Amino acid sequence: MSQESLYDAIGGRDAVELVVDDFYNRVLDDPLLVPYFEDTDMDALFSHQVQFVSAVAGGPVAYDGEDMQSAHDGMGITEEAFAHVAEHLDAALRENGVEDASAEAIIEEVAALEDDVVGQ
Ligand code: HEM
Repeated sequence: MSQESLYDAIGGRDAVELVVDDFYNRVLDDPLLVPYFEDTDMDALFSHQVQFVSAVAGGPVAYDGEDMQSAHDGMGITEEAFAHVAEHLDAALRENGVEDASAEAIIEEVAALEDDVVGQ
């Protein structure tokens, strides 16, 4: 990675929070995804997602959640649902001014987690 991390390149914590906020609004507007989040404490999930996006973008925030496999255990997440979530994150990154190269790098990190999240 270059000297400037992706996290800095996209604008640090403020930018990450904007992206996460937009991302979650998109997810919760998607009828395919809403059932997965019905019992979720959104405040807790929001702060986890800020930490997670920060961590995959190379920021200074340590991700302290459970690993991805146990976080999604028993949810029956399908490939289709995963693809929707990835698309919403991609849109949220780009709509909030993240450059293509940075958005692509983040989406690649996320795509690498598909096997941990889907079908558990
Ligand atoms: C690579 C893609 C994904 C990432 C990076 C991700 C990340 C996370 C993180 C960091 C948490 C918090 C874990 C914790 O509390 O320790 C979480 C929880 C959760 N995720 Fe994901 N997730 C992904 C995909 C999905 C998909 C596709 C769905 C459903 C369609 C989903 C549904 C949930 C739900 C419902 C929770 C909340 C669990 C609870 O109620 O505490 N996630 N996810």
